[in-house]
Parts: sequence; structure tokens; C-alpha cells
Amino acid sequence: MLSFTHLYQPPRAPGAPTLLMLHGTGGNEHELVPLAAELMPGAGVLSPRGKVLERGMPRFFRRLAEGVFDLDDLRQRTLELADFIGEASLYYKFDASRVIAVGFSNGANVAGSTLLLAPKVLAGAVLLRAMVPIVPDPLPALPATPVLISNGRVDPLVPVAETDRLAALLRSAGAQVSVHWHQAGHQLVHDDIEQAHAWLARF
Ligand code: MLT
Repeated sequence: MLSFTHLYQPPRAPGAPTLLMLHGTGGNEHELVPLAAELMPGAGVLSPRGKVLERGMPRFFRRLAEGVFDLDDLRQRTLELADFIGEASLYYKFDASRVIAVGFSNGANVAGSTLLLAPKVLAGAVLLRAMVPIVPDPLPALPATPVLISNGRVDPLVPVAETDRLAALLRSAGAQVSVHWHQAGHQLVHDDIEQAHAWLARF
């Protein structure tokens, strides 16, 4: 038994990357599967459901208030997710070295914490409406790991300075960070998808 409720679709061609789809608060394992097909048709899809419930809404880690995270829970849940990716790669026999996270909101934040706390697990990440999840000390090594941050200029939940802080944190760990800004709030817009699709072509 794998440790997360999840959905898995094998890649169309053997050896193609696997997109790890991570939903936002209140989402589930089904929510981002259509997005995976738009972003990288033919890629494998691994889509877990967050185990924490906040008033019935699934999340990947607990928060104390909007944007204020329970860091002990975040650490533990992030490592649990990292283990799940390893377990799933053995079970489904996909290439564990070609897993790219695509996360939205809380899913982007757990993708960020996975980069920062389990730096060998992801080959890259698309962070849609992301914040700084945690600042680990010492910083991990993320040598040239490609990361796309796709945030909205008028997002009431993620101030512009928070995005800058996240990009700087990941760059100081060695990641190759691209920041795409959108004239948008917290909700995704078509431009997010178009640009993420183009950015993912490097894999
Ligand atoms: C959310 O609503 O999911 C937050 O904006 C992000 C988070 O709590 O991780």
C-alpha cells in the first residue's frame, strides 16, 4: 500500500518525465490531472492528495493562519511526501531521477519545501503562486536545478517581496530560477499555463 491516496498515469513513452501534481488547499488528486496533460502531454502523472484536513479541505501541511505555517508539521509532511515519491517510483517503475513537481498554492509550497528539505528528490519544479515555505539552515545544495516561479503581481496572499525572497533563497541554494510574473491574483490565468508549458520543454 502506498502511503498517500493518489492517482497515477504512466508516461506514454518509456523514460518520459513524471509530473508530480500538487493541488492547492481544498483540492484533491484529480484536480490537476487535466493541467498535467496541457503542460506536458505524454508525461507520466503522479498526483497525491494532501493528508492534512483544514475544515474538511485537504492540504499538504498544517498552517496556523493564512501564510503562517506549522514548521514541524511541514518538515514531517514534506519528508513523508519525499518517501512516497520514492515508493511510487519502485511500485510503478518510473524513473525517479525524472520527477518534476508542478504545484499550485499550498501544492507549490510543499514542492518548494521538498526542494529545500529533500533536495535530491525533484529534477525540477513549477511553482504556481508560491511562497517561502521554510528557510532551512544549512541551505541544501540544488546545483542548477531548474525552477519556475509563476506568480501574480496582484496576489492578495503572496506579496511581490515574498516572491523575490523565494527566488533569492532557491538561487542561493544553487537552483536555476526563472520568475514569470502575471497580471493576476491568486487564481491561475491562461498565461501561466502557456509559459509553464514552454518552460517545461527543457525536460
Ligand atoms: C493556500 O491557501 O493554500 C495558501 O495560500 C498557501 C498555503 O497555505 O500553503
